[in-house]
Amino acid sequence: PLHQREYLVGGEIKIWDGPVQEVYSPVYTLENGELKRKLLGSYPLGTEKEAMEALDAAVAAYNNGQGEWPTMSVSGRIACMENFVYKMIKQREEVIKLLMWEIAKSYTDSAKEFDRTVEYINATIDALKDTDRQSSRFEIKEGVVAQIRRSPLGVVLSMGPFNYPLNETFTTLIPALIMGNTILFKAPKHGVLLHSYLLRAFQESFPKGVVNTIYGRGAVITPPVMQSGKVDVLAFIGSSKVANDLKKRHPKINRLRAVLSLDAKNAAIVTQHADLAVAVSEIILGSLSFNGQRCTAIKIIFVHKSVADAFLQQLNTAVSKLKYGMPWEPGVQITPVTEADKPTYLNEVIQDATAKGAAVVNENGGATASSFVFPAVVYPVNDSMRLYHEEQFGPVLPVVPFESIQEPIDYQINSSHGMQVSIFSNDAKEVASLIDPFVNLVSRVNINSLSQRGPDAYPFTGRKDSAEGTLSIADALRAFSIRSLVTTKANDTNKK
Ligand code: G3H
Repeated sequence: PLHQREYLVGGEIKIWDGPVQEVYSPVYTLENGELKRKLLGSYPLGTEKEAMEALDAAVAAYNNGQGEWPTMSVSGRIACMENFVYKMIKQREEVIKLLMWEIAKSYTDSAKEFDRTVEYINATIDALKDTDRQSSRFEIKEGVVAQIRRSPLGVVLSMGPFNYPLNETFTTLIPALIMGNTILFKAPKHGVLLHSYLLRAFQESFPKGVVNTIYGRGAVITPPVMQSGKVDVLAFIGSSKVANDLKKRHPKINRLRAVLSLDAKNAAIVTQHADLAVAVSEIILGSLSFNGQRCTAIKIIFVHKSVADAFLQQLNTAVSKLKYGMPWEPGVQITPVTEADKPTYLNEVIQDATAKGAAVVNENGGATASSFVFPAVVYPVNDSMRLYHEEQFGPVLPVVPFESIQEPIDYQINSSHGMQVSIFSNDAKEVASLIDPFVNLVSRVNINSLSQRGPDAYPFTGRKDSAEGTLSIADALRAFSIRSLVTTKANDTNKK
């Protein structure tokens, strides 16, 4: 087990000697003839005191924009980041293995998460070079020479979610960092230990106090940090409940900038003109990759009544062919769910639906074994059921039959979410008539394909409770900076 005691504050790696939090894998293994969650290690259960020390180190390193990092040239910051990526790649295998054990993501997908993150950092560096080229141009208007720069915002509190503990933490931390901000960083509850392999890379690549880590229970260490009013940007990917709670604590909430990616309940709409084979294969991937534990996952499926039976038959066959197994098994598609209380919650929402007239229509749907939950197709779901409204974030596929296309449009209008929708239809006219209504209700409309975040160069955002601000490579650079101007008036004094 990895008993992590190190944390990074003000450029120093400190050693923790207080209470710790043990970390158990969602994966059960056989120990002395007994099936048990594997003990992976432990990490510091820091308190308000350590959190405030780390915050003060970030504030000092920023030093009202006068610190070494916020005043460093763009090329200097890029060189530090390149050094960091170089060191990060050396830890590839260790990070991937822990990622797999900590959240039960398959080895293949854990490796993809790592490699995608490295690509993301490299693309961010390239995007910054482009931005810098633009800001080194001067514009001359009405006798004024203007240079538009991108300047940092201050101290960023960066927190990612458990389903992409490396990648989605870094999709805010990296752009915030490279734009000259200083960072206070808390790893998600599941996926903490893997970051211990990167502490030294941070320490050795950036000036003192630029990256600071905090460990402990989120509910204990993040509220005082927000209440201090010293955080300039909240960069958070997780639930809107937590995000709202954190925002409200900031004494100058109107001045706090927030870059948030939050709850989502993405719909798939299968019309009577859909190619059902395409719809089924995309919906399987869209709703069940990483057991449906993705904000972009398809979490509700609307199917036209005339094709519902044929669709369900094909869907159930596809679900029955999915490969279940341990995360390290090659080709595995369904792995244990990450959160210990998830099987109970999923069982509750399925029972709520069946009590109100729906049924689990696939063999073994919803059955559990240790931390496995077998995907459940639930039909017919309607708006009286929890599965119609709640973001299940797990392997349950609620299917809603519809007669009029206005029904899924109304669902989206009334939903508190607005991230993505997938429309399955081979009728070009029908597709064209649906794009406008949906593009004004969500932030991405996918035609005949699943919902997803990538490619990472695309803007990633959402409406209503689904997001605040936009993430992607170029958008994220904008999100963590301000366009500032240096103007020079070509008057007589300047000419002399
Ligand atoms: O959990 C939310 C992620 O942004 C999903 O990303 O679509 O690349 O899996 P993904």
